[in-house]
Amino acid sequence: MNNKTLAIIKPDAVRDNKIGEIITMITRAGFKIKDMKMVRLTKQSAEGFYEIHKERSFFGELIEYMTSGPCVPIVLEKENAVEDYRKLIGTTDPAKAAEGTIRKLYARSIQFNAVHGSDSNANAEKEIAHFFSRKELLENYSE
Ligand code: RTP
Ligand code: MG
Repeated sequence: MNNKTLAIIKPDAVRDNKIGEIITMITRAGFKIKDMKMVRLTKQSAEGFYEIHKERSFFGELIEYMTSGPCVPIVLEKENAVEDYRKLIGTTDPAKAAEGTIRKLYARSIQFNAVHGSDSNANAEKEIAHFFSRKELLENYSE
């Protein structure tokens, strides 16, 4: 599955009313939206999603942030999706992000950074499955 990635418009960007502007940037960059929904994560779901960071000092704050309001997980498709989408969003810390990236434009800080992007093809597959069931995938992925 090296042509798909999972994006999330995080709760800060949803609160800032930036869903439309961020999706426009994504589609203008050539990504196709394959699935999308708005959900408010439970603590358990957020902890499962970011399990890789559970030993990090910022884990508690991260879970509080990701459960603070609704977010918008989106399945994106494009050749080289994982890498190209990470380029489009910019570095984790918006202060270091390149001009024109989503985080440069919409993130406030290294923590409240507006969007998520999968960091490998294997994680993209797991993360897509976290939000979108097999049944939904089969229905929505047929052209
Ligand atoms: P993401 O997984 O959300 O796409 O972000 P990322 O790969 O650029 O960064 P990662 O290292 O995976 O961190 C996950 C999220 O944790 C929050 N964070 N806070 N306070 C801090 O120092 C800190 N560092 C990271 C951010 O919300 C980051 O996106
Ligand atoms: Mg990450």
